Amino acid sequence: MKQTIVNKIKEKEWQKSLDIIHTAGNIIRNGGTVVFPTETVYGLGANALDPRAAGRIFKAKGRPLDNPLIVHISNGKMLEDIVQDISPQASLLMAAYWPGPLTLIFYKKDCIPPETTGGLETVAVRMPNNPIALQLIEEAGVPIAAPSANISGKPSITSGKYAVEEMENRVDMIILSEDSTIGIESTVVDMTTGLPLVLRPGKISQSAILRTISTDEADYLNKSAELEELINSKKSNQSIPRSPGMKYRHYSPDAAVLLWSRERLTLLFEDILNSDDPKTLWEKLRAEGQESSVPLHKVKVFTTDDALDRYGEFGISLGNNGEEIGKNLFKTLRDMDEMGIELIFCEDFEQIEQNEFLAAVMNRIRKAASVD
Ligand code: TXA
Ligand code: MG
Repeated sequence: MKQTIVNKIKEKEWQKSLDIIHTAGNIIRNGGTVVFPTETVYGLGANALDPRAAGRIFKAKGRPLDNPLIVHISNGKMLEDIVQDISPQASLLMAAYWPGPLTLIFYKKDCIPPETTGGLETVAVRMPNNPIALQLIEEAGVPIAAPSANISGKPSITSGKYAVEEMENRVDMIILSEDSTIGIESTVVDMTTGLPLVLRPGKISQSAILRTISTDEADYLNKSAELEELINSKKSNQSIPRSPGMKYRHYSPDAAVLLWSRERLTLLFEDILNSDDPKTLWEKLRAEGQESSVPLHKVKVFTTDDALDRYGEFGISLGNNGEEIGKNLFKTLRDMDEMGIELIFCEDFEQIEQNEFLAAVMNRIRKAASVD
C-alpha cells in the first residue's frame, strides 16, 4: 500500500502553496501519481511520456488498458511537441476555449507512448482551466496524462472528500481543493475527421464548436449539414469513431438508478406517501418486470428545487437548472452510496428543460442508469 501525501490548496490562494505544487510536480516527473483538481472533475495524473507512469494510472483506477488517457498541457509548446499537425480549425477552437473543458484529438507524435493512448495513433489533449492544475503541469515540465480520479466504472470525483476516500493509498499525492465548478467531464472532439466531431458531450456543445469555426451564418448551416452527413455515413458504416471509453460501464453508484418521467414519479410517490407501504412500490416495479424488495428508507428521488415537495422525505434536489444539476450529480450519487441508498429514481430532466449542457448531463445519467 502506498503512503499518500494529502494537501489542501484553496484555488484563489494557490500562489501561497507553490511549495506543495512544486513537490507534486517532482513526483510526476519522477514517474509517480498525483490526484489534482480541474474545473470539470478531479484528475489522476502521471507523466504522459513515461509508459510505466501511465501504467500506474491504469493500476490505481483498475482501468481497462485499451481505454486511452487525456493528456493535459499548460502551454502551446507542449502541444507542438506531442501532436503531428494543428489544423486552422483546431487553432480556432483552442483560441476560443482553452484553457477550458474541451479535449481535442490529434494524430500523435512518437514521444507519446502507446500505453498512454491505449494503442491508438491519436492522442486526446486538453488545457484545463484551473490554476493549480496549470501550475502543476508547469512544475512537472511534462504533459500530464489524467483520467478522472475515480475507480473505473464509478461516478467521477468532483469533491476533495471523495478524492481522499477513493484514492488514498492508491496514489503518491492528493491535492484537495474546492468542488469542481462544472462537475461533468470535458467535451471530447475528434479533429481527425475533417469536421470537429463530438465523441463525448460536455460543457462546450457541438453547435458552439461549429459556430466557432464558421465564418458566417451560411457557413455554419453548411457545416452543420456536412456534419450531419458525416455522422449518418459513419452510422451506416457502423464505424462512427467513438471514445473507446464510452463502451465501458460508467458512473455507476452501488444503488440501482431508474430514469422516469416527472409525471410517472409524481403519481407513484403520491401513492407511496399516502400508503407508506413498500408493497405499493414493489407492485409497480413488478409491473415493469423488476423484482424488488427494497425497504422505503433506502429509496430516493432526484429532482429539482421546484418539485421537491412532491416526493416528501424521498426527494433530493440536484438544483435549479442544468448547470446546478451538472455540478451536483456525481457528488450526490456518491452521497447516496454513503447513506446506504439502494434505489435512486431520477427524473428525466430533459422533459423539464432543454439545452445542450443538460443533454450532456443526461448522457451521464443514462449511463449511470445503464440505459445507454
Ligand atoms: O474533464 C475531463 O476530461 C477529465 C479531467 C480530469 O480532465 N478527464 C477525463 O478523462 O474525463 P477520462 O479518462 O475519464 O475520459 C477520457 C475519455 C474516454 O472516454 C476516452 O475513451 C476518450 O476520452 N479518449 C481519450 N483519448 C482518445 C482518443 N485518442 N480517441 C478517442 N477517444 C479518446
Ligand atoms: Mg472517467
